[in-house]
Amino acid sequence: MGRHERLADLADVDADGLVVADLGCGTGRTVRTLLAGRHAPVTVHAVDQAVELDDDLLADQRVVSRVADLDDPLPFADASLDRIVSMNVAENLADPARFLRECLRVLRPGGLAVIGHTDFDTALFTSDDDELTRVLVDRFVAVVPDWQLRADGFMGRKLLWLAADSPLELVDVHAWADAHQRFDEGSLAWKIAMGMVASAADDPVLSELATTWMASVRRLADEGRFLFAVTDVVVVLRRP
Ligand SMILES: C[S@@+](CC[C@H](N)C(=O)[O-])C[C@H]1O[C@@H](n2cnc3c(N)ncnc32)[C@H](O)[C@@H]1O
Repeated sequence: MGRHERLADLADVDADGLVVADLGCGTGRTVRTLLAGRHAPVTVHAVDQAVELDDDLLADQRVVSRVADLDDPLPFADASLDRIVSMNVAENLADPARFLRECLRVLRPGGLAVIGHTDFDTALFTSDDDELTRVLVDRFVAVVPDWQLRADGFMGRKLLWLAADSPLELVDVHAWADAHQRFDEGSLAWKIAMGMVASAADDPVLSELATTWMASVRRLADEGRFLFAVTDVVVVLRRP
């Protein structure tokens, strides 16, 4: 089971007529798994700061695409949602604790929030230079890329603190390795490796080593000897 299937599983949307929100839905990968194989009525509010949903999701009657800034109060009435899912969003937020208080406000009593985050510091790459891989992962989690306002490569392990400090009840915590063997352009491993190379840009020596490292990882992938994995942490929270 992949990351988004696991999230949908934890959200437990089997009852009829549930109202669900995916906060920071991106292209809608979790939305898609929430809807997969379901014939019972469900409404999924797909919320993001810009609409990135694929066309088939935009055309789906069960999906309501909403543009909102998650640093603002959530665009839902009090106690109007049965489920919230939010994956890899918390590191971007100005105040994740306030975000969880907002989740409490908009959930119905007994409603669940499934909040997940990759802990990027756990990135595992097979390479022919483990020491250099470690240096590049350290760089990657220490640098906020130009295109992001905020980043926190340790957010996965911090979710439990956020949960403990929130007014929501902790139901469960899960962690799994999201593993991939692909290293072609556009794959998750490739995107993270590109981020690692970019994070070395201000050090000419390291930057050159990083470029060679990237080529060696690609060679391992071509030979079928490549593995990438990263740990996802997910807390399941309930409004009492
Ligand atoms: C790494 S992506 C994750 C997308 C999706 N949840 C997934 O797992 O595939 C983070 C998403 O959060 C959204 N996001 C970040 N900060 C936001 C904010 N302040 N308000 C609304 N959306 C935000 C981004 O636009 C992006 O789509």
